[in-house]
Amino acid sequence: MGGVNLVILGPPGAGKGTMAGMIHNRYGLAVLSTGDMLRDAVKKGTELGKKASGYMDKGELVPDDVVVGIVRESLEGTADGGFVLDGFPRTRAQAESLDTMLENEDTRLDAVINLEVPREVLIQRLSRRRQCSECGKIYHLDNMPPAREGVCDSCGGKLYQRNDDKPRTIEVRLKEYRDNTLELVDYYRKKGLLKSVDASGNADATFALLEEIISSVGHE
Ligand code: AP5
Repeated sequence: MGGVNLVILGPPGAGKGTMAGMIHNRYGLAVLSTGDMLRDAVKKGTELGKKASGYMDKGELVPDDVVVGIVRESLEGTADGGFVLDGFPRTRAQAESLDTMLENEDTRLDAVINLEVPREVLIQRLSRRRQCSECGKIYHLDNMPPAREGVCDSCGGKLYQRNDDKPRTIEVRLKEYRDNTLELVDYYRKKGLLKSVDASGNADATFALLEEIISSVGHE
């Protein structure tokens, strides 16, 4: 399947990164995760990382102009083969910027997949998440544990707990989602692009629902 362009929307912990990874493995679409790009910049200590780290550690959104800039750079040249946006857009201003970027690239979104998960499940997922410090693969201590404790199955890298997965920061992130991002559900519903999915089941069950959506909007 070529050229399918998707946004994955959903609150922190809904499984956006996990589903984006599974879509990449199954369909070969490029994954653009603003969270991963920002964390990478923080790790490398770049100017972008210095600007972003204070906001991220507190669980707040990074300013729109910073995030739009990195997505614009990443989308150039990626749009042709199809892509999945994970964690972007997150505000109405970002959604409007994305519309303009896609128009300039002469392309469009095929679907916005909205992952719906109850709040108590989100908190359980975030507080027990671990991530590989090398390749970024996502684990969960109960739901998707690595074969060897603390070690990535894919690359042998060390697993770590994200700074923003602490209880108080999780609360801030969930509030940021309600205050800034939730309105995008309506934004994309009005555009006829929204596909809401019950994402409270396990990863394979959720991915099966996504596969149905992707084959229904695919160009094959
Ligand atoms: P970001 O990294 O995007 O964080 P987020 O949106 O809070 O989402 P998460 O990565 O926490 O969760 P997810 O939905 O990807 O779930 P995951 O698959 O990991 O952003 C981090 C920060 O960067 C923001 O707070 C902000 O500061 C900044 N930022 C990023 N983008 C920005 C933007 N556009 N504008 C402004 N600022 C921005 O899964 C969670 C856990 O659950 C894992 O342990 C996983 O193994 C498990 N799990 C997943 N799916 C299932 C399932 N179906 N069943 C059981 N367990 C599951």
